[in-house]
Amino acid sequence: MIWHTGHGLTVPGARGTRLPPPAGGCLAERMTTPHTTGQAPSAHREPTSTAQGPVTEERGLGPPGGSGRSLPRVSGQGPVTEERGLRPSGGSGGSLPRVSAADVGTVVTRHGIQTVEPLIRPYLRHTPAITVDRADFGLPPGPLVLKLEQLQHGGSFKARGAFANLLLRDMPAAGVVAASGGNHGAAVAFAARALGIPARIYVPHVSSPAKIARIRSYGADLVVAGDTYSDALAACQEWTAGSGALPIHAYDQAETMLGAGTLGMELAGQAPDATQVLASVGGGGLLAGVAAWYAGRVQVVGVEPEGAPTLTAAMRAGRPVDAEAGSVAVDSLAPRRVGELTFAIIRQNAAKVLLVDDEAIVATQQLLWETLRVVAEPGGCAALAALVSGRCEPAPGETVAVVISGANTTAVDFGPPAARPKPRDQGTGP
Ligand SMILES: Cc1ncc(COP(=O)(O)O)c(C=O)c1O
Repeated sequence: MIWHTGHGLTVPGARGTRLPPPAGGCLAERMTTPHTTGQAPSAHREPTSTAQGPVTEERGLGPPGGSGRSLPRVSGQGPVTEERGLRPSGGSGGSLPRVSAADVGTVVTRHGIQTVEPLIRPYLRHTPAITVDRADFGLPPGPLVLKLEQLQHGGSFKARGAFANLLLRDMPAAGVVAASGGNHGAAVAFAARALGIPARIYVPHVSSPAKIARIRSYGADLVVAGDTYSDALAACQEWTAGSGALPIHAYDQAETMLGAGTLGMELAGQAPDATQVLASVGGGGLLAGVAAWYAGRVQVVGVEPEGAPTLTAAMRAGRPVDAEAGSVAVDSLAPRRVGELTFAIIRQNAAKVLLVDDEAIVATQQLLWETLRVVAEPGGCAALAALVSGRCEPAPGETVAVVISGANTTAVDFGPPAARPKPRDQGTGP
């Protein structure tokens, strides 16, 4: 390992930005926060140590803002308990209360994720994780676990959060509406079709044709609006105001993070020896969910493009701020700023964030295809690019897990059906 779990350190030579240290330490706070008491399902053996020794609740990754305070409350509703509100819509419990950045850490927890997981499981694929040798990617040897979430319904991890929203929140007759770079829109469209709910999706012009085609194929109303995700979000919000439809935020929503957290829960069972987990960052929902599951037990590391450094900018400013919204992964990792809620969870549970350049992302996309015949879109393999480019240098023997988060790309094009050989023309075999 080239980085350390000490507070506020910048990774030498790796252009990493450490998450700022929580003010005042937080031993007591972490010990009293409900998520620290949630038990992992028995089938999931979790790592209890890292290269630096056991990661315990006592070690440094507590909520910002001081030590030893009692749990935050949701205004006017008494203490937030993890049991509260996590019930399917239509049931007696209603949906989760709206949470603020101060409260969200009491809702997006291991226990919250465990509660949501069985609700959404019937609608999702339990995606495989493959263990390969890092040497296959031209790196020093060592175990590398790839969580192949591009095999998820809709082609990305986003289906998890989409189902969590649609199953947990009270659903108006007008259905749902979402703004998206494309993958969240595809996921919401997929989930809405599965549950018989009307859906309207806004995407920007930069959304890849593969994503737009997916959204259309799921039968949602599609609106292409503006140049960037932020433009599509603004158009979406304008329409939503008078529509009665339920907006499903791509990342800054507790249910979205809880859904993403189920990926972390699955991965923990599939890669029990992992000492660090890498996931790409756009608005921060994926990283927040995964980090909330691990809750400091392993190092959860965010990776984002240099051209869309949303989390890096937020880390430097101490709060979400606007950042450049470019890069080759513009249709997935460039929402301009991380969410208020995601940032709160990430600060509490993740270890740090790394930047990768577009060259590294594109090279990784190619390498993944050549090495494993796995297709990923740029945003889907940005986390792996941190390893391939040497921004993250694990110790020999250390198990690193990386989320391959999406593959809605036209990178593999078999040509128009008419141009493809007919099955009988493809050889007769030995
Ligand atoms: C394939 C893929 N990976 C990662 C992300 C980042 O997710 P988040 O916005 O939750 O950080 C996205 C977001 O759209 C995505 O589409």
